[in-house]
Amino acid sequence: MNIRLDKYLADSGFGTRSNVKLLVRSGSVLVNNKIVKDAGIKINTETDEVIVKGEKVCFEEFEYYMLNKPAGVITATRDKNDRTVVELIKSSKRRDLFPVGRLDKDTEGLLLITNDGKLSYDLLSPGKHVAKRYLAHVTGELMENAGEMFSEGLDIGDDKPTKPAKLTILSVSDKQISDEDGIKNVKEYVTEVEITEGRYHQVKRMFEAVGGKVDYLKRLSMASLVLDEALAPGEYRRLTDEEVAGLKSKT
Ligand code: URA
Repeated sequence: MNIRLDKYLADSGFGTRSNVKLLVRSGSVLVNNKIVKDAGIKINTETDEVIVKGEKVCFEEFEYYMLNKPAGVITATRDKNDRTVVELIKSSKRRDLFPVGRLDKDTEGLLLITNDGKLSYDLLSPGKHVAKRYLAHVTGELMENAGEMFSEGLDIGDDKPTKPAKLTILSVSDKQISDEDGIKNVKEYVTEVEITEGRYHQVKRMFEAVGGKVDYLKRLSMASLVLDEALAPGEYRRLTDEEVAGLKSKT
């Protein structure tokens, strides 16, 4: 790939385009062992060697991170009021990272953060039916045929019913909750849900349609990518080459 030297340096963490123009003009940048003062020259990212203040630059076109999103952080790149998921990725020097898809502010779990627009498009494209699996803690009294209703498609108030989804109830227990009417006995279900769409509040609205309220939601997987359970909420790691290849091969 050929890109301008100023973009190459900005993408490698040397500051904004105007910062790196100054850096280049100061004579601190060598390309193939020659001082270069024109930040507009084209760099071949595979074959050219760029050295800044004596250190070789390692250029990476794409970065891929798995974040265990904590509750309370919003799925965006920048925000005036709230902390964003991209701000949690401290080790990246890149300025063009973005989250692939959305999780609600109170949802935890797997979020892919990258600057690979093609992979993101492929994972989010409705035609690809990429599977996403969630752990959901639900209170209420679920309809007896909730599982069938999930698999047949549910009316959640949109133009079309949802696509077939899988509901697995892992456990049911009794729970006491207090609300404005006093103390109530309800059931608490621990469930796993698999959906292939990404509608707004989809899992929460699907449970509402069958008599439940989601109290806790965590994404466990997306396509072939499975949340690394060693990551505490707020922690992240780079994807392995195998994980990246797995995502690319299935989309
Ligand atoms: N469904 C929801 O309701 N919320 C999410 O964050 C993800 C899926």
